[in-house]
Amino acid sequence: MCGIVGYTGPRNSVQPILEGLSRLEYRGYDSAGICLKINSKLEIVKKEGKLENLRAALTETNPSSHVGIGHTRWATHGAVNNDNAHPHGNDDFAVVHNGIIENAPVLKKQLQAEGWVFKSQTDSEVFLVLLTKFAKETGDTLKAMSKAFQTIQGNSAFVAMEKSTDRLFCVKRSAPLVCGLNPVTGEAFVSSDPFALIGYAPEIFFPQDGVIGCGSVKGHTASMDFFELDLTPSTRFTAQKNAMSMDATSKGHYEHFMLKEIHEQPALMEKLVAWAIKGEGLSTYSNLKGKAPEYFHITACGTAWHAGLVIKNFFERFNNVRCCVEIASEFRYREPILKKGEVGLFISQSGETADTLACQELCHEKGLPTYSIVNTQGSTLFRHCDQNFLIHAGMEIGVASTKAFTQQVLTGYLMSMGYAGKLATVEVYQEIKTLSDRVAAICEDAAAIKEIAEKLYHKKGFIFTGRGVYFPIALEGALKLKEIAYVHAEGYAAGELKHGPIALIDDNMVNIAVLGPELFEKALSNVEEVKARRGLIFAVGPKGHPELREVSDMYYELDFNGLPNLAPVMVNVVLQLLSYHIAKLKGTDIDKPRNLAKSVTVE
Ligand code: AGP
Repeated sequence: MCGIVGYTGPRNSVQPILEGLSRLEYRGYDSAGICLKINSKLEIVKKEGKLENLRAALTETNPSSHVGIGHTRWATHGAVNNDNAHPHGNDDFAVVHNGIIENAPVLKKQLQAEGWVFKSQTDSEVFLVLLTKFAKETGDTLKAMSKAFQTIQGNSAFVAMEKSTDRLFCVKRSAPLVCGLNPVTGEAFVSSDPFALIGYAPEIFFPQDGVIGCGSVKGHTASMDFFELDLTPSTRFTAQKNAMSMDATSKGHYEHFMLKEIHEQPALMEKLVAWAIKGEGLSTYSNLKGKAPEYFHITACGTAWHAGLVIKNFFERFNNVRCCVEIASEFRYREPILKKGEVGLFISQSGETADTLACQELCHEKGLPTYSIVNTQGSTLFRHCDQNFLIHAGMEIGVASTKAFTQQVLTGYLMSMGYAGKLATVEVYQEIKTLSDRVAAICEDAAAIKEIAEKLYHKKGFIFTGRGVYFPIALEGALKLKEIAYVHAEGYAAGELKHGPIALIDDNMVNIAVLGPELFEKALSNVEEVKARRGLIFAVGPKGHPELREVSDMYYELDFNGLPNLAPVMVNVVLQLLSYHIAKLKGTDIDKPRNLAKSVTVE
């Protein structure tokens, strides 16, 4: 997902822009750039690779400008190079973009036929040319923004600046965009994430789709005005205080954000259950009693999809609700059968994942109520759904999702207990407290897991296996290892091994077998199948099973007592730490793995 930061105000815009972009690095990117207005000229500096390269280039010239826009690009159209990096600019305007202009090829051909020249291979440059064209025709930048935005199709956010004034312009459709103001310092900001504005803009605004924002400064007064596409003043925006705290931006004493976020899980679990059972969340959850729908269409991507597979078990077991858990990029195109009485449930940490948003839109258009299990308040998913269940995981900076998975599963469990009218029972509170204690103990036992990682990290392939509710945990463990250690790992239903994957087993293939008390004997026989073929076995399972220890090369035993429903979350933390330590031994960029973005806001 691309990062955007714009500034206009009395100070040198370079500092807030670079600081904001550095906070968005966790989203993943492959180039960075900035446009500044210097001596009434638009000067653009952009560099392939890390933000450091841009910072170094700016240090050479040490530019100063009261207005500027910056961007970190995650390439969708056009190779990773300086030409394709943003901002895209000409003598009069500069633009940064997040998303995809779906009709860019057609528009580009038309504009080239009119004599307009393009310098990049990107779709984003089409917006710059449209803006420039319409500004020449109308003599009004606001009007030109509106006409350009109405011409393009697809989900996008645009921020623009102009040579003629110090104003910032922004507009979006189904993409994250936030505006900010600091009335005391007289500064206006625009960004793709409120996190970039922490400490700068105490007031933030979320314009809705098709609302044009205009940030300007007159003397010591900054203002952020909003307009409909017909240029009438708009009230389609939400205003709030930027309540995000700065501590999310620091790793504290941890080497990586991912490790910090794994260790945050015990406290977050207890905070979530207290909020839901005794705090502000009580009104949300206690109203659920007896209101479970007949059917949940659960859709999500990646880790969130795995969380949905675990949550499905709660709704089916405790609420007799049938659930279909689908990958969002599949669901949105298969013309699903959606009926009255069914509910769309969307799980997303960022609330900005394009495929998941498209599924919400599809269900909404078909008349289904739409609910979210989401981490980011004010995100597009949060604002589009009829009801939201916030997971309260705090900012998740590590690209590999850890605490968000845990909080998503717990939120699904609390929903299920709410529907069943069991939310405030001692059992629920006690089980989550037990889970928190067990996860804290695992985090303290990281040395044992690190020792196992040292035995495994050089192996060529990993097959995670699990049965029942441990199958999604096997999927999640494999995803974690893939994304941060860059090794081939797959998750499989343990019972499926004999239907093909067992052909992979040899002494260089590791079977990470995840077992719970349920179906234990079945899962054990699957481990024995692997053993018989000289596979290396690391088992994670319940204490008190010498036969499992006997058959495994390595065995991490856990106490499942007191966790009748939430043990999969506990097991998953072992796999989070295993992946972390394997990645550390392999020396990969754990918090910002190659090719990945924290939030995939494009298809
Ligand atoms: C998880 O480790 C991945 N980074 C990725 O699969 C992520 O879960 C997926 O992109 C969904 O993101 P969301 O929860 O923000 O929608």
